[in-house]
Amino acid sequence: MSVVAAKELEDDAKKYASEAIRLDSQGAHGMAIQMYQKAISTLVKLVHLYPDYRLNKQYTERAMAYQERVKAIQAAHGLLPQDQAPDMDWTPQPTQANGGHANGNGATNASPNSQKGPQVVQQLKASFSELVVTEKPDVKWDDVIGLEDCKMAIRESIVFPYLRPDLFKLGWPRGILLYGPPGCGKTMIAAATAAEIDGYFISVDAASIMSKWLGEGEKNVAKLFNNARKMLTDNKPVIVFVDEIDSLLGTRGQEVGGEVRVRDQFLKETDGINDKGKNLHMYVIGATNKPWSLDQPFIRRFPKRILVPLPDNEARMAQFKMYTAPLTLAEDVELTTLARLSEGYSGSDIKDICQGVQLRVVRELFKSGNALDKESMTRPITVADFKEIMRTRKPSVSPQAVRAYADWSNSFSAL
Ligand SMILES: Nc1ncnc2c1ncn2[C@@H]1O[C@H](COP(=O)(O)OP(=O)(O)OP(=O)(O)O)[C@@H](O)[C@H]1O
Ligand SMILES: [Mg+2]
Repeated sequence: MSVVAAKELEDDAKKYASEAIRLDSQGAHGMAIQMYQKAISTLVKLVHLYPDYRLNKQYTERAMAYQERVKAIQAAHGLLPQDQAPDMDWTPQPTQANGGHANGNGATNASPNSQKGPQVVQQLKASFSELVVTEKPDVKWDDVIGLEDCKMAIRESIVFPYLRPDLFKLGWPRGILLYGPPGCGKTMIAAATAAEIDGYFISVDAASIMSKWLGEGEKNVAKLFNNARKMLTDNKPVIVFVDEIDSLLGTRGQEVGGEVRVRDQFLKETDGINDKGKNLHMYVIGATNKPWSLDQPFIRRFPKRILVPLPDNEARMAQFKMYTAPLTLAEDVELTTLARLSEGYSGSDIKDICQGVQLRVVRELFKSGNALDKESMTRPITVADFKEIMRTRKPSVSPQAVRAYADWSNSFSAL
């Protein structure tokens, strides 16, 4: 899937939604409805085009919530539905994130003909707890290539205090912020941490905490931490992982005025972990690729701030090794060459490149008309194939962005 194209749709949807909310809050109901509907159709398109996109469940929720809002405005202001409501046929799709159904049972009730509003709202409420993933992800430390400092810092912060709390007379840090360019392993590291520890792991996307409607966001934060505290009873570590944590500050939030409260609630909750009883084994790991949008009080809650950088030469080599292992390579393909050529590319770019060369030779086979012959095979992949893909597929992280992370690190990194 093209992450870039999905991101574009996502950005459009966000733009429409914030415009809708702005209009809504100003009482421009007709225009707000139109904007909500644009946001809904964009989200529907996104989910349909990219059934495996990891945020689909949230998108489905969002779209359903906008649908509800449209109905509520129509009911409150006696507006008859003018335009045909966008297609809300959420064909259940398996997702990478939960391996189950992207949206499951909410689908039917959200159909444009449905008048069962309150029921849908009920489901939205219930589904917040569904969004929180508590089972352990299937990612091992060794699957995370490179990033040794980062792994070590996490290990030390969580495992050492757990094994010997008595040695930590001054307590230990409970907040870890992973920041860095997209696609370099932040989410992966958090998942591996979970698999590593004998404890509980609660994972939630900040975007899903930011609720659709005013006031709900901070309740979601409170709920999240309440649930985490409940798990503390048997003295095992509890890790709360908040992905895309910058959304909590709401610079791109979808609410009017709600962001501040969500942020304050989060600060309060994290203070709670640090204050009450020095021996609590509860941790908050936050991940962001926009560290500069975090403010000082927020940053202070994360005493450990770790850059998850673009892969270096060695890491790129290891990534190519992993992704090309199942492919048939020509003799001229050397991992050292691939690593050298791919400077500036992220881990997820490298994965995309390898998928790209694979598609290239598969496409050729189909063009030749022989593909349906089960004996036919693709030709070996050459360095020229890799070069061609890299020529048309630029790194997703710009050099300016890399500098911006370095600058932020200079001021704020804390290992
Ligand atoms: N260090 C790494 N080791 C192995 N695979 C990696 C690594 N970095 C990235 N990848 C590949 O790229 C994908 C995306 O990585 P991940 O989701 O962890 O990035 P991220 O830093 O959380 O990005 P974002 O900021 O966009 O959320 C992974 O699923 C994996 O396939
Ligand atoms: Mg991530």
